[in-house]
Amino acid sequence: MPPSAVARLTDFRTGASVATDDLSAVSDALSPHSRSHPLADPLAPPADSPLWRKSFLLGAATASYQIEGAVNEDGRLPCIWDTFSATPGKVLAGDTGAVACDHYHRWEADIDMLMGLGLEGYRLSIAWPRVMDEAGQPNRKGLDFYRRLLARLKEKGITTFVTLYHWDLPQHLEDRGGWLNRDTAYRFADYADLMSRELAGSVDAWATLNEPWCSAYLGYGNGHHAPGLANPRFATQAMHHLLLAHGLAVPALRANDPASQKGIVANVGRGTANSERAADQRAAHLFEVQHNAWILDPLLKGAYPGDLLELWPGTEPLVLEGDLRTISAPLDFLGINYYFRTNVESDGAHGFREVPPEGVERTQMGWEVYPDGLRDLLTGFKAAYRNLPPIYITENGMASDDTVIGGHVDDTQRISFLRRHLAAVDQAIQAGVDVRGYFLWSLMDNFEWAFGYERRFGIVHVDYATQKRTIKRSAEWVSAFLKERKARS
Ligand code: FCB
Repeated sequence: MPPSAVARLTDFRTGASVATDDLSAVSDALSPHSRSHPLADPLAPPADSPLWRKSFLLGAATASYQIEGAVNEDGRLPCIWDTFSATPGKVLAGDTGAVACDHYHRWEADIDMLMGLGLEGYRLSIAWPRVMDEAGQPNRKGLDFYRRLLARLKEKGITTFVTLYHWDLPQHLEDRGGWLNRDTAYRFADYADLMSRELAGSVDAWATLNEPWCSAYLGYGNGHHAPGLANPRFATQAMHHLLLAHGLAVPALRANDPASQKGIVANVGRGTANSERAADQRAAHLFEVQHNAWILDPLLKGAYPGDLLELWPGTEPLVLEGDLRTISAPLDFLGINYYFRTNVESDGAHGFREVPPEGVERTQMGWEVYPDGLRDLLTGFKAAYRNLPPIYITENGMASDDTVIGGHVDDTQRISFLRRHLAAVDQAIQAGVDVRGYFLWSLMDNFEWAFGYERRFGIVHVDYATQKRTIKRSAEWVSAFLKERKARS
């Protein structure tokens, strides 16, 4: 291992400096040639951890627009991200998902790669514009792509989590108002009905939506994501229609594919207060209301949090009689995506403002590495929601500026990141939270939305010029752990 990789690792373990003899153990364990001793790896979970249990699912996640490419093939319709990324200034370097990882053509090799790493679960999404035409009729060619993909995954014994909406809204629906139009929720229910009729029996778990917070707030509240509108009033209305879409879809999924699990995926944020002052404590609370309770309260309590209006006065969405009952129907699982924490203070009025801590470890995104946040959120949700369903961590991971040197990618920070976040999950389980699996984001580098291809989240490196995949050291680490776990069971 090159000295620079070792030096970098020292910063990332506990924050404390690591003794020299420790370092040799670490560098040994991370070497691709020392696969025979994965458990000499000080980064492995403790021997009594539930993560060793075969029933704890370990997998990787991707999403259609971020990896598939082939945007004009086999009758796929344009989506809001095609439009947004073609708009100058919206995506870094003008990148688009037109080719992405070319997964639409390389899916077989990509599944082999997933299998080769020993991953047991795969979370993917279906591109709505690929499988349904404007009249709501199935597009057979698009459907066949997912049919083949899911058949292969089933044949290989991979547990599949399929997200129906990971942000690629058909453009023709956006042209009619997108998520600001209540009708989109009913169109989504039709889409969920069609997919679950067509693909019944080949999906282990259906997630209706990925991260409604991002769709509503980044898409309609601040305009950083497609469709690029910026008005808090729009955000709350879009959120309501997204959650309604979820609620309307669940009964169709249950009726058509009873054996599968049904759930939703929420991104959650940890807000910490910059001081003990009551105003700052309140600011941290409001941060979590805006990021977490805004979605989880209607789903799990059948009501929006009142505090939301303190942040955004006058933004009450139009909610019809019965909507919240539809939205809060029981779930089989809740998907949680976690990346970082935000440290805040009071803005002096009714909101919060960020106070970025200094001297902390960050990723290529500038996001703080804060594993305790994941544990604290999970235990907090258990305390807050009596009917909290079983949880899967459906995304967790980090971006780093990875390059291939001599055929290897030394992404040591990612190994440390994954190890510490798995440890946080472990702690939450020990504290009584029912967490059943973990999907790392992402199987491979891909189109990172407004950041294009510059930010690399994969455990597999993708050379976008040649589409060559290179297994990173983090993938080797995960793979070694899974191998050992299999050997023990
Ligand atoms: C999440 C998205 C996912 C990916 C990660 C880094 O918000 O669900 O598609 O971009 O962030």
